[in-house]
Amino acid sequence: MEKVVLAYSGGLDTSVAIKWLNETYDLEVVCVTVDVGNERDFESIQEKALRTGAVKAYVHDAKDDFVKYFVFPSLQAGTIYEGQYPLATALARPLIAKVIVDYARQEGASHVAHGCTGKGNDQVRFDVSFNTLAPDLKIVAPVREWRWTREEEILFAQKHDIPVPVTVGSPYSVDQNLWGRSIEAGVLEDPWAKPPDDIYAWTMSVRHTPNEPSYVEIEFDRGVPVALDGEALDGPALVARLNDLAGSHGVGRIDHVENRFVGIKSREIYECPAGVVLHQAHAVLETLTLTRDQMRFKQMVSNELATLIYNGFWFSAHTQDLMAYVASTQRFVSGAVRVELFKGKSELVGRKAAHSLYNPALATYGEGDLFDHSAAIGFIKVAGMATVNQATSQLLLDAGSADRMMRLAAGQPADDDAADARAAGVHDATSEPVDPSAFN
Ligand code: ARG
Repeated sequence: MEKVVLAYSGGLDTSVAIKWLNETYDLEVVCVTVDVGNERDFESIQEKALRTGAVKAYVHDAKDDFVKYFVFPSLQAGTIYEGQYPLATALARPLIAKVIVDYARQEGASHVAHGCTGKGNDQVRFDVSFNTLAPDLKIVAPVREWRWTREEEILFAQKHDIPVPVTVGSPYSVDQNLWGRSIEAGVLEDPWAKPPDDIYAWTMSVRHTPNEPSYVEIEFDRGVPVALDGEALDGPALVARLNDLAGSHGVGRIDHVENRFVGIKSREIYECPAGVVLHQAHAVLETLTLTRDQMRFKQMVSNELATLIYNGFWFSAHTQDLMAYVASTQRFVSGAVRVELFKGKSELVGRKAAHSLYNPALATYGEGDLFDHSAAIGFIKVAGMATVNQATSQLLLDAGSADRMMRLAAGQPADDDAADARAAGVHDATSEPVDPSAFN
């Protein structure tokens, strides 16, 4: 009998998938549950897999790899999808795929399987990662194939004595790992509906958060957070502690209608306390340590990488190339950032860096100013020259007046009769000049 390694979560879908893979494809099922900080009872998940018919069930702790090879590089890259989503789910998928491939090799399996539906991003991330890492392995996606209703699935489960958890009544689909918690479906499918309080697990409502702020100092070494309040911590511990602290102040809730790769718009709620604070702090440190050119270009690279990660192309040459650039930008991104956490907000209160580019002698308006003010005149002349030249030889001829230039710059029609009449009045002084004697 051939073997399949199934990415097993312990939920109803992947439990039913064990029996279904058995019956439909005549495969022996090896379950692998990857611990990326999802805080589950892994022992009972393992037992459940075996009880449900898996020939073997492994739990693989991948928290260190997750933070080291996925979360922190993405933090250094500043990747936030559509300016909102720190990519928690998206970052874990390629790692889970990698671990599943490792087990497939170890077990001599011919197939790999995951429990994703046919409508989401996760199936793309798994399939593309499996195919790039191990093109010889065949992929089965039971949930995508069987296309059952919830009721049909429960019937199949009952027929095979697969326990149907009471939480099956929960209308939400939740995925979580160290970097964040993603919640979708149920009432959230109405973008106008306020998310019910009970969907949140990591962040307090600001109605119940402390009435005093907390302050946290985050230290970075070449773009990687290494200590909180002076205490050195390994990656998973640092992220976990910041999740607790920021979450207790209600920081990290995100409500976003996002564009899935498969073309669907979907309303997502995220809880990413550590992610939000660390991205903010890291970006702040870069304002001290990167030049204007580096920051501008890196922003484009960040956007590109966020899209690549979201769409499932972690294991592509394009990702490798851009990440090599990102790594190079981080050489001097070392220092500390101080943040105030209070009533759902994380606010920057200070930053410092050993190799800061901030130069008080250039910045000051007070004593000790070393900036050469007279050089500014020539600088502006040259910097503005092409624009001034174009204005005199093209734009002013075309527009004819400062008013029309104003409208054109705003993207509006150059002609506006009423406004023109008012502007004409300027020259006949529409308002009476003030009689200076009135102030005596
Ligand atoms: N929309 C997010 C993403 O594509 C989260 C998906 C969460 N998955 C889930 N099964 N709830 O990355």
